[in-house]
Amino acid sequence: MTERKIGMIPGTGKQSQGIALRLAQAGYKVMIGSRSTEKATKIAEELNARLSTDQFVGDNNNEVVKQCDIIFLVVPPEYLINTLDGLVNDMKPNTILVDVIVPLSFETGLAYCDDGICTDEATYPSVSECIQAKVPESISVVGAFKTVSAAKLNRLEHPLDVDVFLTSNDVDAKSKLINILSKIKSLRVLNAGPLMFSRTTEQMTALVINLNKLNKLKHASFRVISVPKSEK
Ligand SMILES: NC(=O)c1ccc[n+]([C@@H]2O[C@H](COP(=O)([O-])OP(=O)(O)OC[C@H]3O[C@@H](n4cnc5c(N)ncnc54)[C@H](OP(=O)(O)O)[C@@H]3O)[C@@H](O)[C@H]2O)c1
Repeated sequence: MTERKIGMIPGTGKQSQGIALRLAQAGYKVMIGSRSTEKATKIAEELNARLSTDQFVGDNNNEVVKQCDIIFLVVPPEYLINTLDGLVNDMKPNTILVDVIVPLSFETGLAYCDDGICTDEATYPSVSECIQAKVPESISVVGAFKTVSAAKLNRLEHPLDVDVFLTSNDVDAKSKLINILSKIKSLRVLNAGPLMFSRTTEQMTALVINLNKLNKLKHASFRVISVPKSEK
């Protein structure tokens, strides 16, 4: 078991619980955040019971960012700016913020990726770029897990068997995260370039939801196929 504690903001939603469970299985301690300490504690207890472990601890979101230097942001997009504003002063310098957020809208049964994300100051092409613009320079954003569904993450009895695409402008932050996520079983971690490619991974999420629906697929996900290096 590693001593590093990874924080989930919040850790109470379906997507963040799935990631938290996979990180705990890989040996990490995970802090479950919430606006409510009581709710965080309850979810942490449930996750501990699910894995027969004591790796999960619950606390309010501010306490989580004070204690962890790797923080997954898994808040619904409409609450992102308020949540960030309430936490940014408590974040440690050099924190790595892992952005899992996808801004989707649904129309006539299909998912669409929103055309950028707006703050009072500007419109950004992706959620990741918006977060990076709003935090101090010493804090780096890495986009990850945008294309992996909560349903797939929470099916612990099945191997994940997916690729996860990492985007960031900070090469060191990205390689730290690659090291951490590579410990998750049957997850392949792929470098997907700078933060501007979060726009692509956000759109891929709409695509995979629609592929599921239009083709009656279940838990569709992305695996990049390549030929072995030795092959011509
Ligand atoms: N679900 C997926 O398959 C999936 C896949 C890829 C990416 N994502 C992304 O992951 C994020 C979370 O998705 P989810 O499906 O896990 O959402 P969710 O189950 O609806 O959970 C979201 C959490 O957001 C918090 N929340 C609710 N209202 C809030 C408010 N007014 N202000 C601040 N926080 C509030 C709640 O935490 P507290 O009440 O504990 O504070 C809640 O537990 C989204 O950005 C989504 O785009 C989801």
